[in-house]
Amino acid sequence: MHALLARAMKEMFLLASLALLSRVPSTGSTDYEYVWSVLAYGQNRCTEIPKDLELCYGIGYTQMLLPNLLEHEKMAEVKQQAGSWLPLVHRRCHADTQVFLCSLFAPVCLDKPVHPCQKLCESVRDACSPIMEAFGFVWPEMFNCSKFPREENEMCITNNQTKNFEVSERMSCPQCDIGMDFILQNMCTSEIAIKAKIKRMKTENADKKLILQKRVTAIWNKNLSNRELKKLVLYLKNGAYCPCPQLDNMKNHYLIMARKVDQRYLLTGIHQWDEESSEFQKRLDQIKTNKCSEPVFK
Ligand SMILES: *[C@@H]1O[C@H](CO)[C@@H](O)[C@H](O)[C@H]1NC(C)=O
Ligand SMILES: *[C@@H]1O[C@H](CO)[C@@H](O)[C@H](O)[C@H]1NC(C)=O
Ligand SMILES: *[C@@H]1O[C@H](CO)[C@@H](O)[C@H](O)[C@H]1NC(C)=O
Repeated sequence: MHALLARAMKEMFLLASLALLSRVPSTGSTDYEYVWSVLAYGQNRCTEIPKDLELCYGIGYTQMLLPNLLEHEKMAEVKQQAGSWLPLVHRRCHADTQVFLCSLFAPVCLDKPVHPCQKLCESVRDACSPIMEAFGFVWPEMFNCSKFPREENEMCITNNQTKNFEVSERMSCPQCDIGMDFILQNMCTSEIAIKAKIKRMKTENADKKLILQKRVTAIWNKNLSNRELKKLVLYLKNGAYCPCPQLDNMKNHYLIMARKVDQRYLLTGIHQWDEESSEFQKRLDQIKTNKCSEPVFK
């Protein structure tokens, strides 16, 4: 079967014409078949991908199907759910994360929805689920790759395997490399944000354990008492051997984000406390008034 990538407009048109071809019957009952396909996908309608559907806006096509392949019926629902996946795209775990996610959240507008291929799903899953795991998330059942078609059997969206990211990029700690631009998005995978200094680091199984100095200031805190804050211990899951240059300096203050998973606080992001920077101050203000949707990565 033809391999397609939703990103390319050109290929979208090819796909559209393929779909049309397959609908033209030899008996001449075009109208009947057309009516059938409208009935079968009767609730589906094409709609513009809005600008604030950040995950998929500008992906290469402008119209998407609603309901989408995740059975979201309303655009508001699509936006809310899709937003949770932006941080994963920014982790750059796979070149086609966005293509894969958008094939489900904002499928190309054809009379029949086209699913992502099983291989594309597996390739993104294998690259990104370790990153998700480091944050205490599991690859969700709604992206269970075994339910997507094989490209031998059915037309589906495949990946462009020519450009995978270098392995070295994946070997670094995903929690450590958050830049200023991603502080806010990162916040949405977290439950707390604090200002703290690191006292000690230890290796515990595959994890890195961080013991903080007692003076911890909460920047944003959903649920932790002051007493708990003072005794906070954080873990970099699967981070025992990953480099994290941010942690080399124990004199620095850091902005640290974390979320609770199975009684432990997993570090989700760390950024040097940059009092002088007005941009950093701006991010702090945004954190305090953040409007993250819950749940994330789901
Ligand atoms: C796939 O990769 C090739 C080689 O890098 C590139 O020329 C082509 O434009 C890519 N196709 C899409 C749809 O991204
Ligand atoms: C995915 O779905 C298949 C079949 O529906 C099921 O057997 C399998 O356990 C699922 N995998 C996961 C990880 O849930
Ligand atoms: C917050 O604390 C309450 C009471 O200890 C607990 O029931 C609830 O699950 C906590 N919420 C979160 C998000 O941890």
